[in-house]
Amino acid sequence: MDTQRNSEFLEILKKRLTAQRLYHSICVAEQAKRLAGIFGADREKAYTAGLVHDIMRYEPPEKMIELIESDSQTLAPYEKGITVTLHAQAGEVFLRKELGVTDSEILSAVRYHTTGRENMTLLEKVIYAADLTSEDRNYPDVNEVRLLAEKDLDAAVLRGLSFTIEDNAARCRPIHLDTVRAFNFLAWERKEKMEIKEILKNAVKVLDSKKAENITALKITDLTVVADYFIIATGTSSTHIRALADEVEDALSKAGVKPGHTEGRTTGWILLDYGALVIHIFTADQREHFNLEHLWADAETVDISEMISE
Ligand SMILES: [Fe+2]
Ligand SMILES: [Fe+2]
Repeated sequence: MDTQRNSEFLEILKKRLTAQRLYHSICVAEQAKRLAGIFGADREKAYTAGLVHDIMRYEPPEKMIELIESDSQTLAPYEKGITVTLHAQAGEVFLRKELGVTDSEILSAVRYHTTGRENMTLLEKVIYAADLTSEDRNYPDVNEVRLLAEKDLDAAVLRGLSFTIEDNAARCRPIHLDTVRAFNFLAWERKEKMEIKEILKNAVKVLDSKKAENITALKITDLTVVADYFIIATGTSSTHIRALADEVEDALSKAGVKPGHTEGRTTGWILLDYGALVIHIFTADQREHFNLEHLWADAETVDISEMISE
């Protein structure tokens, strides 16, 4: 989107928005461009989407409903009552039908800037977070959310979504389903990512505390669909490796995680399969014999020094 087009949008916005809302739009555009730069989204698209995101903010609800329905989109009764979300949906239709915007990334970023949605695109997240953290915003913890947005875009989006959900629930107002879906998707994705790292950390700590030797963690996400991580450890005897396996299983089950299956309790190689994480506990000779590190030589070694020294 070129500068000329942005100037045209600005002229249109001047007629449609209050001075304060126009200032907000420019601040969101600037912040969107900045965040896009940090997270690798298209900076020009981010600027344009930020600039026009509130273009329908002052349109009367009945006009917005009419416009949306004229685009063959159906609105649930509760949606017609939430004017703050209507302006985003109507904004997308207005930009597309009245102003000839064809860029689907910009359109969807405007469409979902207040509700979010399941599996948001990068630009949608950038606009959502920019609207939350633009320079003109001054809610109590805005500085904290700004710092968060620069470091962890998903966390900032989640923060905004949870605020919307809590605030609406507290006032007994309907919560848009896209907001709930956006929240569930991001919260679940995050939980899964964090969970596997927590499990790995726990297992390494237990193995270390029970005197396992040569503990190695490998990240194999990109090499196989079998698992994301391997932990390989050595025990001093077959009794020791059984004790190590029991301790790990016990500690992880207390944390609510159980292995899908286990193998080799009577051999020198015990395997505990936690899905994304597989733990291999060997006697020294069996470890040397199977040499998993050699087989998985392309895997990335995970730094476990902090897990052990903690
Ligand atoms: Fe808005
Ligand atoms: Fe806004």
